[in-house]
Amino acid sequence: MSRDSYSKSEAYIVEHFAREDEVLKEVAGRLSNDGKYGINVSPVEGKLLQWLVGLVAPKLVVEIGTLYGYSTLWIARALAPSAKIISLEFDPKHAEIAREHVHMANLDGRVEIRQGDAKEIVKTMNVKPDMVFIDADKPGYKAYLEWAMSAVRVGGVIIGDNTFLFGHLIGEDRGERTSDAAIASMRAFNETLAKSPNFRSTMIPTYEGMTVAQRLS
Ligand code: SAH
Ligand code: DHB
Ligand code: MG
Repeated sequence: MSRDSYSKSEAYIVEHFAREDEVLKEVAGRLSNDGKYGINVSPVEGKLLQWLVGLVAPKLVVEIGTLYGYSTLWIARALAPSAKIISLEFDPKHAEIAREHVHMANLDGRVEIRQGDAKEIVKTMNVKPDMVFIDADKPGYKAYLEWAMSAVRVGGVIIGDNTFLFGHLIGEDRGERTSDAAIASMRAFNETLAKSPNFRSTMIPTYEGMTVAQRLS
């Protein structure tokens, strides 16, 4: 990844504000060993999520796309003791590994990982989350957003990761292929939020793009 223009500012933020604890370091190491490091959020993005959790003070967060639980742990660490994050993961191996990491972090009481296709799971979830973090398959973003916009409580927030779609939405070639379905879905994701009078939305210009939206009505 050519993140040169971000590397100095990122390093500064990590050094001062976004250091990983031992468990997060362990999860990052395992992601690296399995060739998956970089699919998880960065420490800067993790701390940003954590800070948003502090502002919103959610009772319930729904995360779509767990991987090894790296972002899940950042979020869970900022939750009140009685609050909860439900994280949805399609791959049984990922779900199992993420559960191990949640246990290592002593967060079993606050985190539930549900294995299955999030598109199906959300249909059966009768919840009013205060925060939804969307970070799973990119062609699914449009469907995840439709669910999130109706499920999230008024005042609650929706966050989408990778909303520049690896540069494809901003005419930047980062050497990463994607599908037409992913491009259409991500365009719809941003444009729907941008136009909706029921949400106040913008993008935090991380390297990957992070769309944030608060439900107004
Ligand atoms: N949020 C994680 C990264 C998630 S990577 C972090 O920052 O640490 C995306 C994850 O979404 C992968 O683990 C992938 O298996 C999962 N995924 C893909 N399609 C899915 C689907 N339909 N339902 C649920 N999870 C899905
Ligand atoms: C990929 C997925 C992500 O959610 C991300 O933040 C970075 C990369 C990927 O599928 O390659
Ligand atoms: Mg992501």
